[in-house]
Amino acid sequence: MPINQGMRSTNNCDFYASLDGGLKAVTYMQRHFQAFDSDVIVSGLQKCGTTWLKALTFSTLYRNQFAKDEHPLLSFNPHPLFRSLESYFYLKNPCPNLENISVYKPRAFSTHLPCASLLASIKDSNCKIVFVCRNPMDMFISLWFFLDKVRDKSKELLPLDEAFDKFFRGIFPFGPFFDHVLGYLKASRENPNKILFLKYEDLKEDIVSQLNHLDVFLGVLFTEEEENEGVVEEIAKICSFDNLKELEVNKKGINESFGIPYKAYFRKGEVGDWSNHLTPAMVERLEKLMQEKLV
Ligand code: A3P
Repeated sequence: MPINQGMRSTNNCDFYASLDGGLKAVTYMQRHFQAFDSDVIVSGLQKCGTTWLKALTFSTLYRNQFAKDEHPLLSFNPHPLFRSLESYFYLKNPCPNLENISVYKPRAFSTHLPCASLLASIKDSNCKIVFVCRNPMDMFISLWFFLDKVRDKSKELLPLDEAFDKFFRGIFPFGPFFDHVLGYLKASRENPNKILFLKYEDLKEDIVSQLNHLDVFLGVLFTEEEENEGVVEEIAKICSFDNLKELEVNKKGINESFGIPYKAYFRKGEVGDWSNHLTPAMVERLEKLMQEKLV
């Protein structure tokens, strides 16, 4: 399945439609983007926890660049704080000047592209990539509910079994799942200083210790003073599901690029919700695929 099928369809909220917008976006990006050694790129499939990862990365990386009581997450959803490499280029300007794209330094971007589709300047530079992965069953259920929230209401939601079948065959934006995840996993094992591979489930289990990996990886170590002052716990708290979900911007705001209400990015925020929705046959099919892919 092509990496970006359905990207443009976020505009009309039908993810299984149109190819051309997404392909153009990626093509522009591949032609024009030049990575800096200092760049940070946040990556992951949709519904694997990218909103959370953006919040955590932003808060860790730039924590000394804004006043505590003026934390940008209080007024911005995490998504617009990171330019999406593939959609920004296409939607705003095919050849923008990105030199001073951000008031915060270093520059940071986001992407859903598979590792293999990242262009040479990203692969060859010393820029850093933080990737988040999630149990595919939870990711699929999250995606299915998300599509329901953002779909054109004149169109029917794809029934769960049909959507599952498509997901299973890799027919969803930036799929197939295992190709995507294993590409980053392999690259992170080969080059752990360049790619940090995080799991949604680990973040849920112990966010503080995961933040303590993130600061080291990004080269912005929490100082002893910061640790004593509880800065790490504060970051975990401000980025938490319960906090972000209740902020005015996330209750009422809209992702202008895609016309998606920010509240659609926050549902349950739990591990294992798949067990409430997938049939035993679906679970069996996916488990078999997992075994095949993860050998
Ligand atoms: P659920 O639908 O299972 O609740 P993405 O951000 O990649 O689009 O992924 C969305 C998923 O992450 C949704 O999962 C959403 O509820 C969850 N999520 C969003 N913000 C979160 C946060 N701060 N902490 C934990 N989970 C979060």
